[in-house]
Amino acid sequence: MTAPPPPRRSQTRARDLERYASLFAKRTRVMRSSAMRDMMEITARPEIISLAGGLPDTSTFPPEAFAAEMNRITKTAVAEVLQYGPTEGLDIVREQIVKVMAAEGMRIDAMDVTVTTGGQQAIDLITKVLIDPGDVLICDAPTYPGAISTFCSYEADIVQIECDADGMRMDLLEQTLDALAARGRKPKFIYSVPTFQNPGGVTLSLERRQKLVALAREREILVVEDNPYGLLRYEGDSLPTLYSLDGGNYVVYLGTFSKILSAGLRIGWIVSPTPIREKVVLGKGASDLCTSTLTQNFAGEYFKKDRWQEYVADLVGIYRSRRDAMIGAMSEYFPHGATWNKPEGGLFIWATMPDVLDTSDLLAKALGKGVAFVPGTSAYVDGRGASSMRLNFSGVKEDEIIEGIRRIGEVAREQLGLYETMTNTNEMRLPPRPQDPGEETDQ
Ligand SMILES: Cc1ncc(COP(=O)(O)O)c(C=O)c1O
Repeated sequence: MTAPPPPRRSQTRARDLERYASLFAKRTRVMRSSAMRDMMEITARPEIISLAGGLPDTSTFPPEAFAAEMNRITKTAVAEVLQYGPTEGLDIVREQIVKVMAAEGMRIDAMDVTVTTGGQQAIDLITKVLIDPGDVLICDAPTYPGAISTFCSYEADIVQIECDADGMRMDLLEQTLDALAARGRKPKFIYSVPTFQNPGGVTLSLERRQKLVALAREREILVVEDNPYGLLRYEGDSLPTLYSLDGGNYVVYLGTFSKILSAGLRIGWIVSPTPIREKVVLGKGASDLCTSTLTQNFAGEYFKKDRWQEYVADLVGIYRSRRDAMIGAMSEYFPHGATWNKPEGGLFIWATMPDVLDTSDLLAKALGKGVAFVPGTSAYVDGRGASSMRLNFSGVKEDEIIEGIRRIGEVAREQLGLYETMTNTNEMRLPPRPQDPGEETDQ
């Protein structure tokens, strides 16, 4: 006898919502999904050009190399790779993490590393062990939308500090710390993506890095440095990480292999002082026991060989061209008054439309034309960023980037035209398009 088909999810949803409402924990009321996750279903459709994700282009990885490595590790160690592993991670991966961090000038001890299920779990675990409901934490404005989801789910009081072209403004940070101190409050930590920030693309200047580390020491505040993009530099000189400036006293470091190898492996890590590491390991054990031993074995073997650096160099070349293609297309298709930056690395460009445009409305229209981006508001907790958008240039090929930007430009112009008709203004009144948009950073 064949089983009856399961009820369709969309049919059960509305009916069940009421039934479950009284069961949910209070914290679910403040949980917030990331705009990108919400759009996953739509952006997975082949007809949609997605400039929304933060996806590495995994089609650039040679399939034979992946198959050969997987074949080898499963043949030589099948019992091990199908088994549970230690919660803190396998030593073979921790040793390779030491090497990958050394490539960015950091010297660490493998014992200080906790392997996590992606960088997202690293953010989750640090927040889990440090934040009680109502505790203050500080982060960039705008900040990584996925971190906002985590911070909200632990009911943190999130204070965002404005960024400019040189990253988080230290004058505003100091003022905020003083204002908090005057009210008897102190942030549990300062979360920042200082290098090729998601979503702003900006990099914290050396001077500000030194200032941030000095402030952390003076005021005894932890800084959580999230650095998925540091090795993806397209031009300019590398800057020391906050971790290397501080030596790991007040800076907790979060890393991931997602952007330099594969997001599907789900391998990230935390480097922290021992007391924090011990709590993190307890927290991780409670959430997933351990990160996949299969993918850890793969990563452990892969990073043993120097080829990993050649692959990163390949990605740098590919993504640099895509960034340039996106900037070229924006100069051609975006309306007067739009501004954007030219990041020296990473995966994102932050663009701001004339402020009469709301990018959430624009997104609805853009999806209708088969293109997606992340609206700026998802990078803030207080509704800011309404005329901005995050655009990803790593996940799709150059011709699609150009077409995607052309379509966004088209809907933006249509919307502006509508606004002008309704208000009797015209485009001439908007500020002129910058001569060199690369110089322009509008956060
Ligand atoms: C700043 C930042 N942190 C963490 C993550 C999550 O990375 P992972 O895929 O390793 O979970 C991302 C992903 O885009 C990110 O941009």
